[in-house]
Amino acid sequence: MTTHQIKVALGDRSYAVLVGHGVINQLETMLPKSAKRAVVITQKNVALQPKLKIPSTTIVIGDGEEHKNMQTIEMIAEKFAEFGLTRNDVVIGVGGGMVTDIAGFAAASWHRGTAVVHVATSLVGMVDAAIGGKTGVNIAQGKNLVGAFWQPSGVICDLDALETLPQREMRCGLGEVAKYHFLTGDDLLALEMSERIARCVEIKARIVAADERESGGRALLNYGHTLAHALERSSNFSLAHGEAVAVGMIFAAHLAHAMQRIGTPRVEEHYRVIGETYGLKVKPDEKIERRELIDLMHHDKKAVSGLTFVLDGPSGIEIVSGVAEAHLMQAFDAMQLNEK
Ligand SMILES: NC(=O)c1ccc[n+]([C@@H]2O[C@H](COP(=O)([O-])OP(=O)(O)OC[C@H]3O[C@@H](n4cnc5c(N)ncnc54)[C@H](O)[C@@H]3O)[C@@H](O)[C@H]2O)c1
Repeated sequence: MTTHQIKVALGDRSYAVLVGHGVINQLETMLPKSAKRAVVITQKNVALQPKLKIPSTTIVIGDGEEHKNMQTIEMIAEKFAEFGLTRNDVVIGVGGGMVTDIAGFAAASWHRGTAVVHVATSLVGMVDAAIGGKTGVNIAQGKNLVGAFWQPSGVICDLDALETLPQREMRCGLGEVAKYHFLTGDDLLALEMSERIARCVEIKARIVAADERESGGRALLNYGHTLAHALERSSNFSLAHGEAVAVGMIFAAHLAHAMQRIGTPRVEEHYRVIGETYGLKVKPDEKIERRELIDLMHHDKKAVSGLTFVLDGPSGIEIVSGVAEAHLMQAFDAMQLNEK
C-alpha cells in the first residue's frame, strides 16, 4: 500500500509527515535518539496506540474542548514529573486536534521545550491540527488564547485510525478539506482518501514553511475561522470545530459579497462545494445572537485592528482588517440565520 512522505521544510527543525495505512509502525524512526522514555497523551475513544521499545507511560485526558485548558496542562506536567520525564525524552500525542494541541503545548512548556511527535487519529488532525507547530489551550475569554509555536519532530497519519472515527468527526475533517478547496481550487474530493490527506498535508506544509509564525500567508488557513470560533463558543461547543468552519466559510462568502469583493456566483459556489459536494451544514441548527457573536469575534486573536476576517476577493483569499459591523449585519441577513 502507498505511503506518502511529506516534508515540512523548516531548516534544522524540518520534519516528515507520513500518511498511509499502518504507518504507526514507523513511529520509532521519528523519536529523538536521545529519548530514553516516552509519555503518550491520548483519549479514551482513540483505539490506535503505539508499541514502543523504550519505557513509557500513558496519560488519558478528558474528551471535549472544556478539557482543553490549563488544568489539563498542569495535570500532565505533574505526571511528567512523577514519571521523571527529562528534556531529552519525548512526548507523543495520539489523538485528534485537541490531543495534539495539548500534547504539543505540554511538550513546549516542559523543561522549556521537550520533543513531541504527533500521531493524528482524526481527519482534522491529519489534514490540519497536527501539522505546523501551533499548540495551545482555551481560556474563558476565547479559544487557543494561550499557546506556543512548537514544531513536532514528526507526524504520523495512519489511515487505520479513521476506521473508528465517528461520522460527525469525519464531516468535521471535510470542513477543513473544503477550506483547502477554496485556498487552492483543487478538486480534493476527486482523490482517494490517502492521496487527499497527503495533498492537504502538502498544502499546509507549503504554507507553514513559507510563514511559520503567521506573520502573513499562514493566516489564510483561518478561512472561515473568525465566525467559527465565535459559533463554537456561543454554542458551548455543541457545534464542532469543522462544522463551525463550514458555516464560517459560508458567512465569509456573504461578507465578501456584502463588501463587493465577490459576486453572487462565487457565493453560490461556496454553497455548492460546502453544502452539496462535501455534505456539510451551511448554517447552525441552533438560534444565534448576533451581538454575542460579534463580541466574541472582537476577542479573536486576529482582531488586531477592529474586526479581521480572511475573505475572498478579486485577488483571491486574503486578510481584511477593519470590517464594518454594517457589513456583518448584511452577511447575517443574507444567511437568514434564526435569531434567539
Ligand atoms: N494546531 C492547529 O493548527 C489546529 C488546527 C485545526 C484545529 N485545531 C484544534 O483541533 C481541535 C479539533 O480537532 P478534532 O476535530 O480532531 O477534535 P478532537 O480532537 O476533539 O476529536 C474529536 C473526537 O473524536 C475522537 N477521536 C479522535 N480520533 C479518533 C479515532 N481514531 N477513533 C474514534 N474517536 C476518535 C476524540 O476522542 C474526540 O471525542 C480543536 O481544539 C482545534 O482548536 C488545531
